[in-house]
Amino acid sequence: MNTSSPLTWTDELTLHQPQIDQTHQEFIDLMHELSLNMQSCDSALPIYQRLLDHTEAHFAMEEGFMAATGFAPDNCHSKQHAMVLDLMRQVLVHTHAEQDLEPMRNLLPELESWLPAHVDMMDAALVFHMNQVGFDPVTGTLSHPPAPAETAISSCGSNNCG
Ligand SMILES: [Fe+2]
Ligand SMILES: [Fe+2]
Repeated sequence: MNTSSPLTWTDELTLHQPQIDQTHQEFIDLMHELSLNMQSCDSALPIYQRLLDHTEAHFAMEEGFMAATGFAPDNCHSKQHAMVLDLMRQVLVHTHAEQDLEPMRNLLPELESWLPAHVDMMDAALVFHMNQVGFDPVTGTLSHPPAPAETAISSCGSNNCG
């Protein structure tokens, strides 16, 4: 049984990008709500579905920012999103089919430790890049667009795919 304390929002998670910061706060809130409702499949599944829907929108938003600022579609940040969503969907299917909460109980602390590492490595690099090219998420415009000769970004903004 996991005995670690729940993940809470801290300044260390702040990237000073309002849309992304708010989304990460909502993600943490949903994980906390799920952790409080793991008594039965009936109580957990609706919240887990909301967490999955929210995560799909969260990753789609970041991938939209990537596409608008010159990342290649197969960059490793997006690949990590896809791996997490795949796992979350597998847990949803299992929970529905088997009425067994064990994989969800195991996944929750994994997600709580995954988020800060992902924010620190990948989302921070995305926000750094957005700032460098002067990307405005509201208008979709770039005030400092990269030179046309520059190739699309396939890495996470660092040398290490992690
Ligand atoms: Fe994120
Ligand atoms: Fe991300």
